[in-house]
Amino acid sequence: MNRSSLRPLPTTGALGGILEALAFFHDPHFAKKRFDRFGNIFETSMIGQRIVFIQGGKAISDLLSQQDAIEGWWPESVRQLLGSHSLANRNGSAHKTRRRVVAQLFSTSALQRYSPEIINMVNDLTVELKRLQSPIPLAEEMRHFAFSVIASTVLGLKGTDRDELFSDFEIWTKALFSIPISLPGSPFAKAIKARKRLLDRLQKLLSKPINSNSVLDLLSGSLDEVGIPLADEDLAEQLLLLLFAGYETTASALSCLMRELLLNPQVEIWLREEIDLLSWPPTPDLANMTYDQINAPRLNALVTEVLRVTPPVGGFFRRTKQPLIVDGVKIPENRVVQIALAASNRHGVGDLDSFRPQRHLENECSATLLPFGDGDRICLGKSLAELEIRLLGVGLLRRLQLVIIPGQDLTLRQLPSPSPRDNLLVEVK
Ligand code: HEM
Repeated sequence: MNRSSLRPLPTTGALGGILEALAFFHDPHFAKKRFDRFGNIFETSMIGQRIVFIQGGKAISDLLSQQDAIEGWWPESVRQLLGSHSLANRNGSAHKTRRRVVAQLFSTSALQRYSPEIINMVNDLTVELKRLQSPIPLAEEMRHFAFSVIASTVLGLKGTDRDELFSDFEIWTKALFSIPISLPGSPFAKAIKARKRLLDRLQKLLSKPINSNSVLDLLSGSLDEVGIPLADEDLAEQLLLLLFAGYETTASALSCLMRELLLNPQVEIWLREEIDLLSWPPTPDLANMTYDQINAPRLNALVTEVLRVTPPVGGFFRRTKQPLIVDGVKIPENRVVQIALAASNRHGVGDLDSFRPQRHLENECSATLLPFGDGDRICLGKSLAELEIRLLGVGLLRRLQLVIIPGQDLTLRQLPSPSPRDNLLVEVK
């Protein structure tokens, strides 16, 4: 591009950025309002931190294709709670090696190993929902389900071990996007203590003999970037990352999917026409294909639309290591860039504000959709998340008819991931 045709980086003019930070946390349309005003790229400041926001396919692919000029970045609270070994906080070869190690837990054969247990969990959940007295907080049930899939199926934790991990994990999650000052009694101080207990527990798990019915044996003997075996402390931080990355996100996708079906009965009728023709349970070895795009196009269009309108990861970050050009705008070195997925998913031609899964079967979606990210940090758990969502969707809808309880707050709390404020109260018909 001719340098003279470069556009200057638009800025909101915020300096201290206290009001911008408050607006960011409280206004779900924070980014959209500013994109409408400044275009697809703008810079603002939040509590002293300059942040560039970008949206749209061109800007996002320009940024993520310049891998050598960017690196991963997380807010300080997330960085401290995940830990310095976590692959989310590593870059270059240290990141790549750990990704390769963790990716073993999400290979096709690993997913085949998980499938029978996930199918059983779906069956148990439907029995449990039939037994419970209404109103049932469905979003909480979805959280337990998503946590159990990772804790039981991937990490091999059962019973009280799993329950204790869950309660510490909830304390830890609450402080992820908080002020990272460890004042006694503050959410962050409690989360730091919970982190220590979580890591102790995860390290104990790793020190169990190989072949104790989890797939963690796949990690034994893993080497770091200079060929030295990864310490248990290092591996434990990777497992903590999996709980973080895989639990809240999938729980949000499941809750938002059920919420949309309950709010849009005509979509539920349309979906059930397909689901009623599918067999349940699937053959475990084939579970990841039985309800895929080819065999269950409506279900997959629904999932795509849910991830578009309520993306579990509304935005993720990079830091520029050198000046770079994105969609005709020069972004200086050492800037934090937020890839604003939530706003980007509604940016394009046509009515992108309405919920309409059918658009994905009619190839009528002009927005670039990257719910699992892209490039060298693309989500490692994508296949597991898709498997869980499809199995739960089919298993639950085949056996249950849910009815929404009136008079509740169905709006979404946005952070860390969208979730219905009153936990989506339902009864089983
Ligand atoms: C619907 C569910 C999920 C969504 C929407 C989602 C989305 C994402 C996104 C957008 C990223 C990219 C972040 C970046 O580029 O900085 C990411 C990264 C990641 N995800 Fe997921 N995720 C989901 C489920 C899962 C599950 C189930 C797991 C594993 C149990 C998982 C593990 C990871 C890991 C380890 C990373 C970090 C990759 C890296 O930094 O190299 N995710 N996810």
